[in-house]
Amino acid sequence: MEIKTFELSYLHSAKDALKSIFYNENSSDIFNEWEFAENLLKSDGYLPELCVIAVDEENVVGYNALTKAKIGSSFGLALGPLGVRKEYQNKGIGSALVRECMKRAEKSGYAWIALLGGNYYSRFGFESGKQYGITVSENKFDNEHLQILFLDRSIKDRVSGRLVYCDAFYDADGNLL
Ligand SMILES: CC(C)(COP(=O)(O)OP(=O)(O)OC[C@H]1O[C@@H](n2cnc3c(N)ncnc32)[C@H](O)[C@@H]1OP(=O)(O)O)[C@@H](O)C(=O)NCCC(=O)NCCS
Repeated sequence: MEIKTFELSYLHSAKDALKSIFYNENSSDIFNEWEFAENLLKSDGYLPELCVIAVDEENVVGYNALTKAKIGSSFGLALGPLGVRKEYQNKGIGSALVRECMKRAEKSGYAWIALLGGNYYSRFGFESGKQYGITVSENKFDNEHLQILFLDRSIKDRVSGRLVYCDAFYDADGNLL
């Protein structure tokens, strides 16, 4: 198993992996985590070095992307989708994908990474965005799951407002993936 930068030759395998991880009966046909991988390639939020995959014998078994994002007037990154194929979970692959992206983001000088997610992310130092007045929508559930990691802690008190993802995260009506 190897952590690699995403390349176009892995698109089919990455979409397959994301579909196996995220598909459910309510999934949209065109607006979902596996089509995201392809849409991202055309998006202005795509940062090739910050899109990583876990590969086992040439098959993608895990995926994680950091994309351009904004909170108020502050520019940073958004994490997701993150996923690991079920049969490969609990082996440290998700952590390796997140930590690799964190390392690359820090090296490139980004100040923060935000995401919508659950308890999994506290182990990496993500904290609730609530205390900083960061929101993502009018939806209370979404806002409660908004988390942020400050790679540059000196700007902590200067980041506040609405998180805006790159276009690949929204459908034509402006709804979030
Ligand atoms: C969440 C996910 C990426 C973790 O990947 P992974 O490779 O299994 O994770 P790791 O092996 O690095 O870490 C395993 C640890 O995370 C914990 N964990 C896994 N999923 C979790 C979750 N949803 N919430 C809280 N903890 C979680 C495990 O219990 C385990 O804990 P331990 O270290 O105390 O034993 C993977 O379970 C997954 O793809 N889930 C389905 C898609 C998903 O939920 N993506 C995240 C969207 S917010």
